[in-house]
Amino acid sequence: MLRQYLETQADQVEAVLLAHHAPGRVTGGTVGPRLIRFALDPAPSTRFTAVRGLAEDLAVALKVSSLRIDRTDQGIILEFPNPEPRPVTFTGLWPEVEPLPPATALLGLTDAGAPLLARLSSPEVAHVLVAGTTGSGKTALLRTMATSLALANAPETLRLLCLDPKGRAFRALTAAPHLTRPPVVEIAEAIEALQSLVRLMEMRDQKGEQQPRIVVFIDEMADLIIQDERRNGHVSVETLLTRLAQRGREAGIHLIAATQRPSAAVLSGVLRANFPLRLVGKVVSAEDARLASGRAQTDAHLLNGRGDFIAVGGSALPIRFQVAYLGEREAQEELAALKTKSTN
Ligand SMILES: Nc1ncnc2c1ncn2[C@@H]1O[C@H](COP(=O)(O)OP(=O)(O)OP(=O)(O)O)[C@@H](O)[C@H]1O
Ligand SMILES: [Mg+2]
Repeated sequence: MLRQYLETQADQVEAVLLAHHAPGRVTGGTVGPRLIRFALDPAPSTRFTAVRGLAEDLAVALKVSSLRIDRTDQGIILEFPNPEPRPVTFTGLWPEVEPLPPATALLGLTDAGAPLLARLSSPEVAHVLVAGTTGSGKTALLRTMATSLALANAPETLRLLCLDPKGRAFRALTAAPHLTRPPVVEIAEAIEALQSLVRLMEMRDQKGEQQPRIVVFIDEMADLIIQDERRNGHVSVETLLTRLAQRGREAGIHLIAATQRPSAAVLSGVLRANFPLRLVGKVVSAEDARLASGRAQTDAHLLNGRGDFIAVGGSALPIRFQVAYLGEREAQEELAALKTKSTN
């Protein structure tokens, strides 16, 4: 069934390319849990930009909702949704990655089928910006990252601070003994928490300390910044966040912040530039994709939503991955087991 589908689709691709004078052959591919990926070998005369320009025509010919064309280490690839998707779950993936190295978060499964991790102590990670439109799966991604950190690190070595202006994202996390305080909803308390972190960072800087690591999760960073702009007479949230992002890593402080709107009007370029790792889900436009990822042509506006993300950082090519999904209830259960373990 699937085999026949793949062959038909590969034939379609080659026919469309030929009809548009950009011939090429589908030389292989992989079937991921959510995506099918074809490797394309273009004829020497065929330009990459010509193939890229055919994405919509190819989507029509293949009868798929979206089709993304990218350049990778393996050459040109075409990606479109698997008609028989299999879910990627946290509980399914966790046994494969355990034990995780210290201060390392689980993100999900790459379209090549490998687990994707983020090591916070690495300069290419350090701070993580998660961007995507509503329903892209940002909150679920933060929950997966926070839960994996809590499960794999003792509270003596790693603490979590959750800032949550919407008041919904981190309810499951309250079960974790790693929380320095309950998730912070009020803007005034968020400012106070960030101020004391900046002081701690300065103290740690002088003493050369890093432990315990403190990971600050922020759902809707833009909301925090906008709410804050209505107040006056103090160091702004944006300034505090920028300081932490610029100098936090050496002091063992990491920011993992989500935002619906990556636009310059909300997040200054300086703040954005200090997040080395970008996890970008479906965004509304190519312009938002560029702002969120810091690169042109990632095509993040063509992602499928619901945990379909690309990881962009350093000089490496973007990696597309599906977030390992963990529901709120399941997260609570995983973390509740942890609390009983640590008190026994
Ligand atoms: N990794 C995933 N796998 C499967 N389904 C997912 C995944 N992530 C999210 N979803 C689905 O998409 C819905 C929206 O996800 P989520 O709340 O994380 O989005 P969001 O980006 O935080 O949206 P908002 O900006 O509105 O807060 C979830 O309720 C869930 O049903
Ligand atoms: Mg959300």
